[in-house]
Amino acid sequence: MPLPIIPQAKMGVTAVLVLPLLLLGISGLLFIYQEVSRLWSKSAVQNKVVVITDAISGLGKECARVFHTGGARLVLCGKNWERLQTLYDALISVADPSKTFTPKLVLLDLSDISCVQDVAKEVLDCYGCVDILISNASMKVKGPAHKISLELDKKIMDANYFGPITLTKALLPNMISRRTGQIVLVNNIQGRLGIPFRTAYAASKHAALGFFDCLRAEVEEFDVVVSTVSPTFIRSYHVDPGQGNWEASVWKFFFRKLTYGAHPVDVAEEVMRTVRRKKQEVFLANPIPRAAIGHKTTGSPKSHYQHR
Ligand SMILES: NC(=O)c1ccc[n+]([C@@H]2O[C@H](COP(=O)([O-])OP(=O)(O)OC[C@H]3O[C@@H](n4cnc5c(N)ncnc54)[C@H](OP(=O)(O)O)[C@@H]3O)[C@@H](O)[C@H]2O)c1
Repeated sequence: MPLPIIPQAKMGVTAVLVLPLLLLGISGLLFIYQEVSRLWSKSAVQNKVVVITDAISGLGKECARVFHTGGARLVLCGKNWERLQTLYDALISVADPSKTFTPKLVLLDLSDISCVQDVAKEVLDCYGCVDILISNASMKVKGPAHKISLELDKKIMDANYFGPITLTKALLPNMISRRTGQIVLVNNIQGRLGIPFRTAYAASKHAALGFFDCLRAEVEEFDVVVSTVSPTFIRSYHVDPGQGNWEASVWKFFFRKLTYGAHPVDVAEEVMRTVRRKKQEVFLANPIPRAAIGHKTTGSPKSHYQHR
């Protein structure tokens, strides 16, 4: 004869099941939200003319991939023709040709101002407009300020400040007259915070951020959106957390981003989200740099800082 189930035992079983079911439900909803968000992002760039500067390095390459599969008409810029062609072949080989456009390749050295102006003209002549400019190229330098020559300081400013602003200025009249367009500056948290041994790089990133912050306020009335995406550290493809014991793995799982930085794929998807949602200022940072920025900017108009 079966034993009667006493109500307390029933409640115990239900309580044990509630938590996993709740977690399963939340994960399912999150998954659906991410998928819908990804598809929505893609539709936001379909048929759009998108220029990516330095499409051949880590983040630029990933941006090229997400925008290409999203159906954008891509203009891929880079300093090295062979690497551009390799990227082109990789994009073409995996994408569905019925849903994507053949990218245009353009040689571009951002520190050569006349080359930048020629490229802007070439792109406008070819497509008639640019819908989205992703200003991603950048030159890095690390070392004590007194050991870095003035020539190198100037070179960094050319590549990271004068180059991007020249390209922007050349494309802006077209965006203003069409009353549409978006400029995304991929910057660095060092554009807001100073750290040792990065004087030239951080100064160029501060300058670029200053320019694009002002521009945002200036072109808002023409429906041109200016966005800045500032990661702390982008992980290299080759750096992978090694195998270890489980405590080390758990530690690595939770502090992966702190230790290894954001993966280029995650940053590229954030760039895509930034375009879709027309976000103004995005920081991909852990709580400590975020708090430092918050502390530095206390007193500024709140609407100005759209933290992620
Ligand atoms: N990596 C990070 O941890 C990190 C963190 C925060 C923000 N960011 C920002 O994210 C963006 C992409 O960084 P990344 O790490 O993917 O790139 P990256 O590995 O630093 O490579 C930089 C790329 O820019 C190119 N470049 C340099 N000077 C140029 C110029 N004058 N004209 C055209 N291209 C030029 C380089 O070409 P060559 O190799 O031929 O010189 C290289 O392909 C940059 O704006 C960077 O500041 C990076």
